[in-house]
Amino acid sequence: MNAQPTALIPDAREAEARHLAQVYGQLPVEPVSGRGAYLRCADGRRLLDLYGGHAVCALGYGHPKVLDAVRRQAGELMFTSNVNALRVRASAADKLAEFAPDDLDCVFFVNSGAEANENALRLACRLTGRRRVVALEHGFHGRSAAAAAVTWRARERWYGFPDTPFDVTFVPRDDAARAAAAIDDKTAAVILEPIQGIAGAYVLESDYVRALRAACDRHDAFLIADEVQCGMGRSGQPFAIEHTGVVPDMLTTAKALGAGFPCSALIMSRALGDQLRIGDMGSTFGGGPLACAVIEAVLDTIREEGLLQQVATRERELRASCVTGPVLGIRGRGMLLGLECTTSAREVRDALLDQDILAGTSSDPAWLRVMPPLTLRASEAAQLAEALRGMPEEAR
Ligand SMILES: Cc1ncc(COP(=O)(O)O)c(C=O)c1O
Repeated sequence: MNAQPTALIPDAREAEARHLAQVYGQLPVEPVSGRGAYLRCADGRRLLDLYGGHAVCALGYGHPKVLDAVRRQAGELMFTSNVNALRVRASAADKLAEFAPDDLDCVFFVNSGAEANENALRLACRLTGRRRVVALEHGFHGRSAAAAAVTWRARERWYGFPDTPFDVTFVPRDDAARAAAAIDDKTAAVILEPIQGIAGAYVLESDYVRALRAACDRHDAFLIADEVQCGMGRSGQPFAIEHTGVVPDMLTTAKALGAGFPCSALIMSRALGDQLRIGDMGSTFGGGPLACAVIEAVLDTIREEGLLQQVATRERELRASCVTGPVLGIRGRGMLLGLECTTSAREVRDALLDQDILAGTSSDPAWLRVMPPLTLRASEAAQLAEALRGMPEEAR
């Protein structure tokens, strides 16, 4: 029994530690509400949030259109499963298919990035009858059995299952010839993040992605674009792979898709969708009415507020102003940027937090990750530049 009521424990991390599995490194802040790009904390602090809950909160906090959609749909019909066809689900799928590259127009809704990737990989193995998948070094695709199997270094660090569901070959992310040579007639699929998010916003070269597309075509393998983090307008295009001119066979997206409401989607080519039969895939919660109402609101907002153009403008401003203080250079696209630091990114992250700005680290110790909402204002971008410029010597 816990004698002290949770509300009276001064530190939320201590309160969590009583019954929550201790698997997350946590920051010393306790957000209680949010508006726009700012979080309000329990101690009254106001933080500029350039991390967005792992790139999820793409419209900031409290966006009226999202709140309206949640309230309206929750009042009308909070949930019914896929056993009933719904207009709100049809409408979300129509708009997502329209937002996606032309050839991708068949949508399957699920709940998380890993689940979307799991289904994409399973379809690829099933439809090709093959058991080998090519993935990229430094990529991250989630923590379920198949998604983690294609996640770089997961097996050495936390995978846990005795075997992976298929054979995996990891290829370098900057050597197109070597990567393409790994694709052959035994390859079911190649999975890649057009911008590797957790790796610190590393952008794959267009020629590299094109070479992999061509190799997939030569060997009838599927190309899967994991846009869980970089998709949904974050790169300045609807989907980041569009910067390369390549169209994948399957694309997965999540995070910004629901702008905070948990949901994800697998979007595939019509040719692939036509091969599906009843029962081939399924999900209880995937495509629930609440999720679909939010997805529609997010897509409408991106279009109505001209957010793709705004993302491009903000990126230019950040690139022009943020190579200062401890920052040596910037990579990434749009509102998914990596800032190369002279010291460790963790130190810079902590120094920014001291100035009430929340940013993220990445799997590369030198690269800080900045994933602001697509709605970021010029003054908020300037706040980051100013904080970096004025950073104390020890963080440089
Ligand atoms: C590129 C990418 N794919 C997949 C995932 C897994 O998504 P989820 O945590 O929703 O399962 C993530 C999560 O960070 C990701 O960044």
